[in-house]
Amino acid sequence: MRIAVGNDHTAVEMKQEICKFLKEKGYEVLNLGTDTNESCDYPVYGEKVGRAVADGEADLGIAICGTGVGISLAANKVKGIRACVCSEPYTAKLSRMHNDSNVLAFGARVIGVEMAKMITEEWLSAEFEGGRHQRRVDLIMDIEKR
Ligand code: RB5
Repeated sequence: MRIAVGNDHTAVEMKQEICKFLKEKGYEVLNLGTDTNESCDYPVYGEKVGRAVADGEADLGIAICGTGVGISLAANKVKGIRACVCSEPYTAKLSRMHNDSNVLAFGARVIGVEMAKMITEEWLSAEFEGGRHQRRVDLIMDIEKR
């Protein structure tokens, strides 16, 4: 499985740790940057992650900025993307099981690396349950058509 990872300047070290973690777990990583601490604009990287997933270049995406909010808002503007900001594993797991989230976002200024790894692991190991949740996800995606 290939995971697209994107981040702004606040999250370079966090991104590196998460990429290492993902590779150790056997995932293929598509690093979309940024890779320097020079100030940059999180919408650029949120869109990159969203497009990589929406275009099928990656199966899922991880987007990291200071809070996870800005970069998830940007990713969610790409058609087909359901990005969720998660600061703990329960929400991350349920965002896959009930909401079929395809981009996980978190904040490098909000949580530590070990929490980020735990969140990532729970998110990646959970599966969408379908059924009544499919109907609700379809209703969300219908909004894009209006
Ligand atoms: C950058 O200072 C910060 O605004 C950004 O990383 C993010 O937290 C935005 O939502």
